[in-house]
Amino acid sequence: MKSFCSKAPFIFLIFLVITNCLFSEAQKCRPSGRIIGKKPPPGQCNTENDSDCCKEGKAYTTYECSPPVTSHTKATLTLNSFEKGGDGGSPSECDNKYHSDDTPVVALSTGWFNNKSRCLNNITISANGRSVVAMVVDECDSRKGCDEDHDYQPPCNNNIVDASKAVWEALGVPHDQWGEIEITWLDA
Ligand SMILES: *[C@@H]1O[C@H](CO)[C@@H](O)[C@H](O)[C@H]1NC(C)=O
Ligand SMILES: *[C@@H]1O[C@H](CO)[C@@H](O)[C@H](O)[C@H]1NC(C)=O
Ligand SMILES: *[C@@H]1O[C@H](CO)[C@@H](O)[C@H](O)[C@H]1NC(C)=O
Repeated sequence: MKSFCSKAPFIFLIFLVITNCLFSEAQKCRPSGRIIGKKPPPGQCNTENDSDCCKEGKAYTTYECSPPVTSHTKATLTLNSFEKGGDGGSPSECDNKYHSDDTPVVALSTGWFNNKSRCLNNITISANGRSVVAMVVDECDSRKGCDEDHDYQPPCNNNIVDASKAVWEALGVPHDQWGEIEITWLDA
């Protein structure tokens, strides 16, 4: 009896360590695969606003998931045009429409887009000591890319909030720093 009692705290500690490991394992978002880049056909892949184009033979990692959403989910903010003829490619997935870049709209990585569950909902984006509310209208596809549907751009990373210029303006980011910044977001 005595020996059991002295071991109990130790056994409990081991139990905590194991459950903790299993829990953080479940929270990790691992790559789902890779796709090999194809060279965009002539005239394809709109490079305006520094959009990235797929390179022939380059491997791009794909994801089905995104990091867990918290009250201050970290993400990378990128710049996108949601207008017809812009670098967003086809109309927005949520409403099959184009959107003015003067309205605060975003696309979310596949895991956060979560099969349209955030469509036309708003999120609050914070950076630079400021916040802006933006509407989710599209998916930043982490599973596919380098094809016509995605304007020959690579698949998105799994932690992207791809935003219209209105979002960048509302956050007061100086123009020479537009492109990629770290932000946090939450469901509004
Ligand atoms: C994106 O590129 C277009 C065409 O070059 C330009 O008119 C527009 O101002 C750019 N948008 C931003 C947000 O830089
Ligand atoms: C996504 O939602 C549609 C419609 O609600 C449903 O039919 C489909 O099974 C869902 N897909 C996944 C991967 O959850
Ligand atoms: C998101 O914000 C827009 C603009 O303020 C508003 O029109 C829309 O109804 C909001 N969406 C939801 C789901 O509340």
